[in-house]
Amino acid sequence: MNRTHHCSQLRASDSGSTVNLSGWVDSVRDHGGILFVDLRDREGLTQIVFDPNNASLGNKFAQIKPESVISITGKVQVRIAEAVNTNLATGEIEVHANSIKIHNISKTPPFPMDDSADKTSEDLRMTYRYLDLRRSSNTDILKLRHNTCKAIRSYMDENTFIEVETPMLFKSTPEGAREFLVPSRMNPGTFYALPQSPQQYKQMLMVGGVERYYQLARCFRDEDLRSDRQPEFTQLDIELSFVDREEMYALVEGLMQRVWKDVLKVNIDTPFQRISYHEAMDRFGVDKPDMRFEMELQDCDEIFKESSFKVFSSAVASGGAVKAINVKGLADITQGELRNLEDVAKSLGAKGLAFIKSIGDELKSPILKFFSVKEIAALKDRLNVEDGDIVFFAATKWERACTILGRVRLEASQLLVQRGKLNINPYDYKFLWVIEFPLMLYDEDLGRYAASHHPFTAPVEEDIPLLDSDPKKVRGQHYDLVLNGVELGGGSIRIHQPSLQKKVFEDVLQIDPQVVESRFGYMLKAFEYGAPPHGGIAFGLDRMVTTLAQRSSIRDVIAFPKNQRAQEMMTASPGTATTKQLKELHIKVTLPKDENC
Ligand code: AMO
Ligand code: AMP
Repeated sequence: MNRTHHCSQLRASDSGSTVNLSGWVDSVRDHGGILFVDLRDREGLTQIVFDPNNASLGNKFAQIKPESVISITGKVQVRIAEAVNTNLATGEIEVHANSIKIHNISKTPPFPMDDSADKTSEDLRMTYRYLDLRRSSNTDILKLRHNTCKAIRSYMDENTFIEVETPMLFKSTPEGAREFLVPSRMNPGTFYALPQSPQQYKQMLMVGGVERYYQLARCFRDEDLRSDRQPEFTQLDIELSFVDREEMYALVEGLMQRVWKDVLKVNIDTPFQRISYHEAMDRFGVDKPDMRFEMELQDCDEIFKESSFKVFSSAVASGGAVKAINVKGLADITQGELRNLEDVAKSLGAKGLAFIKSIGDELKSPILKFFSVKEIAALKDRLNVEDGDIVFFAATKWERACTILGRVRLEASQLLVQRGKLNINPYDYKFLWVIEFPLMLYDEDLGRYAASHHPFTAPVEEDIPLLDSDPKKVRGQHYDLVLNGVELGGGSIRIHQPSLQKKVFEDVLQIDPQVVESRFGYMLKAFEYGAPPHGGIAFGLDRMVTTLAQRSSIRDVIAFPKNQRAQEMMTASPGTATTKQLKELHIKVTLPKDENC
């Protein structure tokens, strides 16, 4: 019984033809012995009618239950007018079955197979992921992901990039996230590391003369998981030679236009807006601002530098900042919501979250008594405080003050959305380049500078002399692509001169020369044999698809994702190893006594 059609194909014009269909039983309705079955395959649904008076059919069909797998042969008939289902592509017709083959009867699924399944436990759905994937909302995401990859591959191919695979068994590299180690049986006591990204290999491909490389590359990072992170994820990884930042922006903007056009039929305007890291932090309190709404942070140093409210004046005196944000229309915030905001601020290192509400003609706040009439007038003017507004403050080091209010901005915007006072359109795609990141950030824990992205990023040319005198002022040739508050990707123009790369490793990042030699010696050597100037970028493919599919979690767009505990529930991975396996690898497992792991 080879299939003649898939289940979303038949129309009134097929009436009278005999067809073979195969798929899963979506639902069964018994109308006095006549069974109406919605048959489902990957593409859609078709209504099948089983009439017990049809002698050629036999009586096997009476056993069928939802999710059983069957094939049928039958005749297409136009439905009577009252039975037409305009919500279904095949809603004009039904197929009257003449024969049926039951391939497999299904047990009753452990959760509903319609959209109400989204409300059941995610772990349960992941344990039965093969059932979850049958739901059309999930099948549609897999198709959308496929279409995204197809658009990417066409665009990269048309722009003369070639796809090259790089090793999955790599070695441990510093400076990044925690890695997954893989013991080597053939080299006892040594370990591979699964790659966090193909960064070093793709740079070697440039030295190898490949010129324009891309890869849909699997990457591994043993990080704490969130809704936008998986331990195993896919990057669209790109590297090219003889490129500068402007060429890179144009290439990526064209790529985004192509993907949005092919996948969603949406036109994206270019060029994308650009903003420096400093400006992004100062105005939005985050290096990946959501530009769909304003609500910007304001500087209040001038207003409060001599204030008798010491929390504010001393922050300014010690070189910090007083930042404020006016959340328009949120003066009706509840005590509980306010406490949550305070907790968020405190989790980011705030001592508190001072606020002033404007209700009627009056300002209300526990700290109002500390301010002079002049300070209040200046504040009202600076932040355009009107009836119904609430202003939040953060007074501490500039970066921390920005970060605190950046989170308050996001949380408060959600409270406004819930109240219907702010509209954040999910179909408004506001792409943004964030540029001019500092090359290095001082790491308080390490007591030294660490690369703000990775140690291969080239400094901005005119800042190179500052590498010796004032490294924190050096800007990197780094760029992040941000969309609606999500970091879709990041990359940089790289260092290609061996002496400069060595200087960054040893003098600026203060990595021990022996460690540099053992970890990056091959790279420094390669750069001595004619390395072209080069640069690249990598996008989180899963994040891109999450946005395209309008989902909130990256787990929704991965066929077999891992849960918050980094477990894949269906196969129960990770699992234990046998004594024989461990012996071959010279590995002894010692579990902490008090932990149940
Ligand atoms: P970076 O570390 O910024 O850069 O990673 C690039 C992009 O990958 C995505 N991403 C993730 N997606 C899901 N789960 C994760 N755990 C995860 N971590 C990162 C993000 C991010 O923007 N080699 C450099 C790129 C380069 O310089 O060319 C790199 O890996 O969307
Ligand atoms: P205090 O005088 O410490 O009781 O603080 C008065 C108000 O200011 C309280 O609402 C605190 O939550 C808030 N507050 C304290 N420190 C800061 C700070 N650094 N930035 C913003 N608000 C603060």
